[in-house]
Amino acid sequence: MYAVNQYDAVAESYDSLFKDKASIEENRKIASMLFEVSGIFLDVGCGTGLLLDILKVSPDEYWGIDPSSKMLDVFRKKHPEYNNLCIPFELLNLKFATFNSIVALFGSASYIDIEALTDIPEGKNIFLMFYKENYHPVTYKRTGCNLEHYSHSRSELEERFPHCEVREFDNYYIVTNV
Ligand SMILES: C[S@@+](CC[C@H](N)C(=O)[O-])C[C@H]1O[C@@H](n2cnc3c(N)ncnc32)[C@H](O)[C@@H]1O
Repeated sequence: MYAVNQYDAVAESYDSLFKDKASIEENRKIASMLFEVSGIFLDVGCGTGLLLDILKVSPDEYWGIDPSSKMLDVFRKKHPEYNNLCIPFELLNLKFATFNSIVALFGSASYIDIEALTDIPEGKNIFLMFYKENYHPVTYKRTGCNLEHYSHSRSELEERFPHCEVREFDNYYIVTNV
């Protein structure tokens, strides 16, 4: 597992990195895909709360988790009424959890041990965004911070998630069953 709080270093400037037209358009497209996802959301690697910025979700249908306390500081300022927890996904026990839909937006899935993701119990909706293997994330480019993440090819993801579809979306693979 990588240093789980590595996003602390970029938290303050994070939102300002994605104000350009292309990012806004990507957000709009992802929001339209998420209309298909229903039930109580677990937003894995919720960061500063992008999901809540782009989609209408009621506070009783949302939990965000992220191991970066600084990213969550920004989240809490923007979305004070929404549940959130400072914890890496690998330490969450999903067996008794009531979430229906597990979502990891814009590369969040690439920071998580893949075994923890393939262990998600059957019956949950999943929508997991991984970086493509040769993509150098905009966050690293625009901040000058070279953070670390796992790299997975499309064929590896297809093998690991046999019941899901692997879609290509710009610089991401989306693994989903919705
Ligand atoms: C690329 S950012 C995406 C943030 C947000 N989902 C968005 O789209 O703006 C990746 C996020 O994953 C979080 N993260 C890193 N390791 C994680 C882990 N093991 N479990 C859950 N989240 C993690 C980081 O702290 C960071 O906030």
